[in-house]
Amino acid sequence: MSAELICFERACRTRYSVTDVLYNCPKCGGLLEVSYDFSRIDAGGLRQLWRQRRMSNHPLDQSGVWRYREIIPFLDDPAHAITLREGCTPLLDAPRAAEYGGLRRLTFKHQGFNPTGSFKDNGMTCGAAQARRLGMRRVACVSTGNTSASMAAYAAAGGLQAVIFIPHGNISYGKLAQALEYGALTFQVEANFDQILKLVRVLAERLGIYLLNSINPFRIEGQKSIVVEMMDQRDWNPPDWIVLPGGNLGNVSAFGKALRELRDCGFIGRIPKLAVIKAEGASPFHHFMKDPSRDSFHAVEHPETLATAIKIGDPVSWPKAWQEVAVSGGLTEEAGEKEIADAKAVIGLCGIGCEPASAATLAGIRKLTGAGVIDRDADVIAVLTGNVLKDPDYIYKYHTGQLTDPGGSAIEALFGNRPVVVPNDPGRIAALLG
Ligand code: F0G
Repeated sequence: MSAELICFERACRTRYSVTDVLYNCPKCGGLLEVSYDFSRIDAGGLRQLWRQRRMSNHPLDQSGVWRYREIIPFLDDPAHAITLREGCTPLLDAPRAAEYGGLRRLTFKHQGFNPTGSFKDNGMTCGAAQARRLGMRRVACVSTGNTSASMAAYAAAGGLQAVIFIPHGNISYGKLAQALEYGALTFQVEANFDQILKLVRVLAERLGIYLLNSINPFRIEGQKSIVVEMMDQRDWNPPDWIVLPGGNLGNVSAFGKALRELRDCGFIGRIPKLAVIKAEGASPFHHFMKDPSRDSFHAVEHPETLATAIKIGDPVSWPKAWQEVAVSGGLTEEAGEKEIADAKAVIGLCGIGCEPASAATLAGIRKLTGAGVIDRDADVIAVLTGNVLKDPDYIYKYHTGQLTDPGGSAIEALFGNRPVVVPNDPGRIAALLG
């Protein structure tokens, strides 16, 4: 299967070799995507083969990404793949969250079950494989925490050196700790995500370091598997809606590409609507989508949100996200700090849990059902992007009434659950329980 890089811009569509080290089109500056000739793909045969691979002990078959390698066929040699058995994440029914969200039924696809606790692993296994295929020694990224944790792990597993740039003081300790533990060279830069991305791009080019942010089209290929696995788990019945949080907008780009390819290859009959939920203080894409036109995208210079994973004011993949949301007939919404915090606690009360950015999904669903946009009977999958333990500081503050929004105002916790300090005295404790 031949793979090529192609400029995403419709007016350009210049093609490049899959082994060119490129992140943007040299001709027009547009985003790049990986393109394949899928004309000979046999959907029926592959559905069966992919099911059979779940029984296999081969490392690539056990991966919830490489199991579907026929739909991400960019590698010439599978030996370049680095797998930590990423993907294979569950679909979980959540009746209490459904009720809170105004739905009869709600299912979470929980990407926090990944090896480093976030959906980034689905993409990073592919990005790191491409780095090895290209003979790269060092890989770099700027991150709000999850990309860096994931990149550090895959680099370590694949014998690459990881160089990480993070906004100083603006990522959770859980995520920073992962990068340190996996041995990444870690720079805490006194700037925000968007500013550091520009810096890292200059450094990557100057020093020949391979860039593994989601602008890297091979990361997007890997993240397609989230949707492919979701459809496989649902016996190829698409839901009405897929709801996900938006940051740099790589994930929605991957979901849209996967859905188009699955439809074009005959795996699914229709494309579900994509709903992207942004945090209110970091929401340029939502504002753009209210009245989209080529020149009307305006970055937010100082994004603010406690959901630090999606604290991004200038999302690079917005042109792709625009197309994918439009093709799906979907939309965007934004959620406030208290809405995200309470929704997150409800997801916790389902015994599921997630990090703050992920909870933007449920907060958004509640608003969209309230406005009559999503029907109460709709079949909805919300993607939880990160594990509950990614940001324990936020959780402790919420439950003990210490969480304040970026402006410094207290957030009243609707579902707060304070730990109770007691003396070592069975009588007193029994009385409290009593
Ligand atoms: N949810 C979580 C937990 C994330 O870490 C991110 C992005 C997103 C949602 C948004 O995904 O960027 O594809 O729209 N985190 C990146 C990082 C930016 O550096 O870890 P997106």
